[in-house]
Amino acid sequence: MMNTFAFVIYPYLALTAFVVGHIYRYRTDRLTWNAKSSQFLETGALPVGIILFHYGVILALLGHAGGLLIPQRIYDAMGISGHSHTLVAYYAGLLVGNPAFIGILLLLYRRVARTRIRATTTMNDFTTLALLFLTVGAGLYNVLFGHYEVLYTVAPWLRGILTLTPAPELMRNVPPTYKIHILSAFTLIGFAPFSRLIHIWSAPVGYLFRRLVVFRRRTVRA
Ligand code: HEM
Repeated sequence: MMNTFAFVIYPYLALTAFVVGHIYRYRTDRLTWNAKSSQFLETGALPVGIILFHYGVILALLGHAGGLLIPQRIYDAMGISGHSHTLVAYYAGLLVGNPAFIGILLLLYRRVARTRIRATTTMNDFTTLALLFLTVGAGLYNVLFGHYEVLYTVAPWLRGILTLTPAPELMRNVPPTYKIHILSAFTLIGFAPFSRLIHIWSAPVGYLFRRLVVFRRRTVRA
């Protein structure tokens, strides 16, 4: 019963909150749709923390998509065995998990230790950072110490959730730290539309392709 709740009902509740929450927030509260930058209040630990965290977490999300959503039989057909796949996931996990974790530690540190930042931090900001800390921390712990075979358990379970064919029995024997990582990630997914994480959908990608802005020096006529 608990297993079905945690690995069928809870993920669907979180995904529903994610979709409905974003639509609701976009329609009702567009003026606060931003990253709530705090750079003008304090720089200090921000530049290093924010860069490490963002590069780490964005690459980790891409890694999860490539590693978990594509079935192993497709990798097999390309000549990439389960063992090689796991090995690549391990080193990639170290490469992106460490910066993401150090980054989130620095961001949490400045939220607690810097007076100006603490004064403007809401409970919602703390909850967002705490959930990210738990998700990233448990993920990195699993890379370092877990060594559990996810390709034939967690990965097909996740695909089952996304294709509406849930198979919670695949999650029954998964170690607790993996379950913590997954459940905190789904909590974050459900909470995201009500937090500053909505800024993820407003990445200024168009900026890279926009027309150049021409600046002209104002010359004073003689
Ligand atoms: C899609 C690309 C993304 C862009 C362009 C972006 C941009 C930004 C910017 C400009 C800030 C404000 C930094 C400041 O205070 O000046 C920020 C903060 C933040 N971002 Fe992102 N972000 C992106 C993706 C993500 C992702 C994927 C996550 C997590 C899953 C994330 C989590 C956060 C958090 C938690 C903060 C607040 C940090 C703090 O002030 O303590 N961002 N982001």
